[in-house]
Amino acid sequence: MRATITALGSTTIALLASLSGSAIAAEKLTYYCSAQEDWCQLMANGFEEATGIKVNMTRKSSGETMAQIKAEADNPKGDIWWGGTGDPHLQAAEEGLTEPYESPMRAELHDWAIKQAESGGNATIGIYSGALGYGYNEEVLAANNLPVPACWKDLLKPEYKGHVQMANPNSSGTAYTTLATIVQLFGEEEGFEFMKGLHKNINQYTKSGSAPIKAAARGENTIGIVFMHDAVAQAASGFPIKAVAPCEGTGYEIGAMSIIKGARNPESARKFYDWALQADVQSRSLEVKAFQVMSNKAAESSPLAPDLDSLTLIDYDFAKYGSSDERKRLLKKWDDEVSVLPQ
Ligand code: G6P
Repeated sequence: MRATITALGSTTIALLASLSGSAIAAEKLTYYCSAQEDWCQLMANGFEEATGIKVNMTRKSSGETMAQIKAEADNPKGDIWWGGTGDPHLQAAEEGLTEPYESPMRAELHDWAIKQAESGGNATIGIYSGALGYGYNEEVLAANNLPVPACWKDLLKPEYKGHVQMANPNSSGTAYTTLATIVQLFGEEEGFEFMKGLHKNINQYTKSGSAPIKAAARGENTIGIVFMHDAVAQAASGFPIKAVAPCEGTGYEIGAMSIIKGARNPESARKFYDWALQADVQSRSLEVKAFQVMSNKAAESSPLAPDLDSLTLIDYDFAKYGSSDERKRLLKKWDDEVSVLPQ
C-alpha cells in the first residue's frame, strides 16, 4: 500500500514538474533582433500580445549578433534571431549555430525566401529583401556646393572627402553587403581598390548599418551608404534625404530569421517563427516605415518602397558570400588592407 502511494506520488510529482516545466518554457522568448529598433520593438510587443509569451529583446547589428551567438554556443542564451542581412545568418547555419526548421508557413512565401532557407540547410529563412544604394542630404550637399552623385564611382571623387559615411562591415550586415557587392560588381582586385579609395572620403565607420543615413537626416553627415529603403524611410519622415540606385547596378540583401541551436525555449521560438511569417504580421512593417519587400506573398507593401524589379541588381551569390570562409576572408582582408590606411 505504502509502495503504491509512494509510486503514485512520485508519478504525480514528475507529471506536475514536466507540466510546469513546459508551461514556464512556453511563456518566455529571448529574442535577438538585427532589424531597425522600432520594428524590433513592434515585433516583440506584437508577439507578446498575440500569445501572452513574455519576450526579452536585444537589438544588435547582424555581424555583432552572429558573434554573440557564436560566443554563447556552449551555453546558448538566445532563442530566435530575427532580422538583419542574410549572409551572417547563413554563416551561422553553416557553423551549426542555428537549428533546421520547416515552418508550415513556407507555402505562402516568395521563392527567394525558400531559396535562402535551402542554401542554409533550412536553418534560416528569408523574411524580407531590399536593395543596397546610398542616400544624401540634399540641403547639406547644396550648402557644400557638391555635385549630385549617381554612381558608386562618384563616391571616390576628392570633393566628397569627409562627406561619406558607412558602417563597419565586421559589425554591420549592411556594410558587409556593401563590401561583397563591390567585389561582385568590379571583381576582387578592382573592388578592393574601390574600397581603399572610398576609405579616403569616409568620415566615420559606424557600428549599425542605418546610422549613416540617420546622421545625414540630422544634417551631421552628407552621404550615407545604406539600403535604399533606409534612405526612403528618412525621406518619408520628412528629412531632406534622396535615395540613389547607383548607375553601375547594385547588390541586395535577403533579411533572415533563424532559430538558435540549443534554445532554452524552442517551442516559443517556433511559435514566433511561424507567427513572423504571417502576411498580416509582415504588413505591420509599414507602421514603422520599414519599406523592405516582405517574404509572404500576401503581405502589403508601400508605394514608397523601392521597386526591386526596376533596379539593375547583380546576381548576388548568397551561398558564396554567406559562407563562413568567404565572409571571414573578406572581412580580414578589409581589416588588413583598407581600415588601417591613413585617411
Ligand atoms: C537596417 C535595414 C535592414 C537590414 C539591417 C542590417 O535595419 O533596414 O534591412 O537588414 O539594417 O543591420 P546592420 O546594422 O547589421 O547593418
